[in-house]
Amino acid sequence: DWTTGNVIEEQVAAIREQVGDKRAICGLSGGVDSAVAAALVQKAIGSQLTCVYVDHGLMRKGETEQVEKDFVAATGVQLKVVDAEERFLKALAGVSDPEEKRKIIGREFIRVFEQAQLEIMKEDGPEVAFLVQGTLYPDVVESGGGTGTANIKSHHNVGGLPDDIEFELVEPLRQLFKDEVRMVGQELGLPDEIVQRQPFPGPGLGIRIVGEVTKERLDLLREADAIAREELTAAGLDRDIWQCPVVLLADVRSVGVQGDGRTYGHPIVLRPVSSEDAMTADWSRLPYDVLSKISTRITNEVKDVNRVVLDVTSKPPGTIEWE
Ligand code: XMP
Repeated sequence: DWTTGNVIEEQVAAIREQVGDKRAICGLSGGVDSAVAAALVQKAIGSQLTCVYVDHGLMRKGETEQVEKDFVAATGVQLKVVDAEERFLKALAGVSDPEEKRKIIGREFIRVFEQAQLEIMKEDGPEVAFLVQGTLYPDVVESGGGTGTANIKSHHNVGGLPDDIEFELVEPLRQLFKDEVRMVGQELGLPDEIVQRQPFPGPGLGIRIVGEVTKERLDLLREADAIAREELTAAGLDRDIWQCPVVLLADVRSVGVQGDGRTYGHPIVLRPVSSEDAMTADWSRLPYDVLSKISTRITNEVKDVNRVVLDVTSKPPGTIEWE
């Protein structure tokens, strides 16, 4: 009988059996899968688990707080937060090329995460032998069903350590589909904002600023994105759309008029899409009054934005993200 209760019970037993009295580490991304995986492992082994959250400064408004406060409150998990915003901004300074940005963000992320792992391994306590991952059934099928170990290579900037640190993987969601993961998360008492979260790219808002990523631009985009999300939620549209990237065209300016003056500001792009699996997508036919509300609020409330445009391209030929 498939019930979330049974799944949880089974996985808790399996995790206890696998981990024994050793310790485990889990990286939290703010997304559904890592959150539910961590919550399950926490339920099974409690303080033998430490979670790591790398705050790269590229998250949306309120998301870091959701992990730091709400997730911790709901699960009681032991969490290590690494504030790496400055480091990421520094590494991204002067970079506009999308692939270059992705590479830098990925590289910095691994470095910061590994540093945190090493600090945890040096703490008193049993051996840290396990890495928890939120692998889902579709990921298992796609990768040919393999399982096993994660080989974490240490980097040159981390001195005095073995060349390779080998962890055994704990993957409690390997038999589940996304909707089942959400149900398990709900049953475990995780906040709705985490359980129902729409897809969000790992490189975060870093790939939603067309142009160089700066703190000022991130703050501006965070505001615009928060307004769009607020209005879509208020209109009850969260379940109808797959996701809605909000993009800042930082290198584009257009003339506008506001109050008694001429403005020369940036456009914000709304990219609402409907999709089954993100491989293909169609642009969502959002109600005009919702679009209008979002546009009015963004241009009124977000400094330096004087225009809101709607992306009406399907995928293909457009990708969902702009970078
Ligand atoms: P595209 O833009 O390729 O996006 O149509 C397809 C889906 O993947 C997400 N996406 C990413 N997710 N790291 C991620 O974890 C990434 O670098 C990345 N790029 C795109 C995107 O949000 C959409 O759901």
